[in-house]
Amino acid sequence: MSPRREVRVAVAGLGNVGAEAVRLIQARKRAFSERLGGRLTTTWVCSRRAAAVARRLKLPKSVKRTKDWRDLVSDPNVDVIVELYGGDKEAKKLVIAALRAGKHVITANKHLLAQHWPEIAREARKARRSVYFEAAVASAIPIVQALRDGLAADRVTSVTGIFNGTTNFVLSKMAHEGGSVSEIVKEAQRLGMAERDPTMDLNGMDTAHKVSVTASLLSGGWLPADKIARVGLEGVHADDMIFAVHELGRTIRLLGTVRVDHASSPARVEAHVQPTLVPLDHPLAAVHGGYNAALVEADSAGDLMFYGKGAGPGPAAGAVLADLLALGREILGGAEAFDLTGGRSGGASAMLKPLPESPAPYYIRLQVKDRPGELAKITGALGREGVSISKISQASRSRAAASVMILTHPSARKDVERAVKAVLKFASVSKSHSLLRLLP
Ligand SMILES: NC(=O)c1ccc[n+]([C@@H]2O[C@H](COP(=O)([O-])OP(=O)(O)OC[C@H]3O[C@@H](n4cnc5c(N)ncnc54)[C@H](OP(=O)(O)O)[C@@H]3O)[C@@H](O)[C@H]2O)c1
Repeated sequence: MSPRREVRVAVAGLGNVGAEAVRLIQARKRAFSERLGGRLTTTWVCSRRAAAVARRLKLPKSVKRTKDWRDLVSDPNVDVIVELYGGDKEAKKLVIAALRAGKHVITANKHLLAQHWPEIAREARKARRSVYFEAAVASAIPIVQALRDGLAADRVTSVTGIFNGTTNFVLSKMAHEGGSVSEIVKEAQRLGMAERDPTMDLNGMDTAHKVSVTASLLSGGWLPADKIARVGLEGVHADDMIFAVHELGRTIRLLGTVRVDHASSPARVEAHVQPTLVPLDHPLAAVHGGYNAALVEADSAGDLMFYGKGAGPGPAAGAVLADLLALGREILGGAEAFDLTGGRSGGASAMLKPLPESPAPYYIRLQVKDRPGELAKITGALGREGVSISKISQASRSRAAASVMILTHPSARKDVERAVKAVLKFASVSKSHSLLRLLP
């Protein structure tokens, strides 16, 4: 019997990404087949509006339409199911059922992976089927492939990145034109740069999902998003940006960081998401608007920088197609890679023990009643908590209130938080304040 030269794909979810992925599969069929060395056939498309989308995309009759993903899972003429529903409920049922039915899976769903990594990894191993997810982290940037394959033989020690376009748009605009987070978010929504409900972007949860997936890729273990220390843009004030740019030669970026301690076994991971003061000449400061970037440090390769569009139907669908090509080659070559990390998990995805944040300098902004002796009280309180100051400056807003900006020497975050808590107890200090990490 001659080996099969066809890969049969079914796409579940025909929204922004799904419809574009199906369109690209149809439009690039010939080039795709040449690269694949076999035929790529779309067998099903699935969404509540599948019939209307299929009409709009002028799909041939041979592509079946359904509202129910179970039709895809139960069809023996499907090799790969592409999950583009989003969310972590129905998508989880679909992905687990697909693997159990012997289908390979491609997903763009960071939320699903961050919440259910061990279960998905277990089912994939049991079924000996692959799960690909390039679009789940920074869409068009091939960071998953780089970590899983390109750097497979290296030891990656850290990934620091800008993984959310909405917050990066807000912070870039704030640096260049001023304005508050809420004003700029409204503008981003008008421009289609932000979701109608941007909560998960602004509170850092979207970045935490991507950090969780990255931590799994680097270590083979699992760090759920709710175990990742997370600060969003809530506390970032226009005054902080002005001070950062004009007094510190820095700008603010929402960074997701994963650092792996390979010396401990099992590996321990430092992971956090927070607005961070980045020097203006650092490559991450040059990432503007809706773009994403990741700075990767590896033992042999040294530093690598990845940059590109982190969202949008085109970038995400392009990443899905890249997965389809890689997976198609595996299927046709008979060498499926059923470990989600390319072998790093060693057969288990144990829950990782998070490491505390490594010490860094911090920036603290306080609103203080402008009275003699207040500064001395504040510096005294910081000193008592073991936090030493490298710079302090004061800008009087009125005769009654002043902004006090403090830079600390490298300190443990828990010490700085304790010190700030102590200072906020003073009647002369307003509760409204900022605390930002400096990229060392
Ligand atoms: N948008 C981006 O830029 C981007 C970038 C990277 C990754 N992603 C990820 O890609 C995934 C899809 O995102 P998207 O922006 O394309 O989402 P979307 O526009 O909301 O599309 C979701 C699609 O799934 C369908 N669907 C959801 N639940 C369903 C159910 N229970 N039964 C039938 N159909 C259902 C919807 O059907 P109806 O249309 O009938 O409602 C819709 O077609 C998400 O995981 C997202 O995080 C998105």
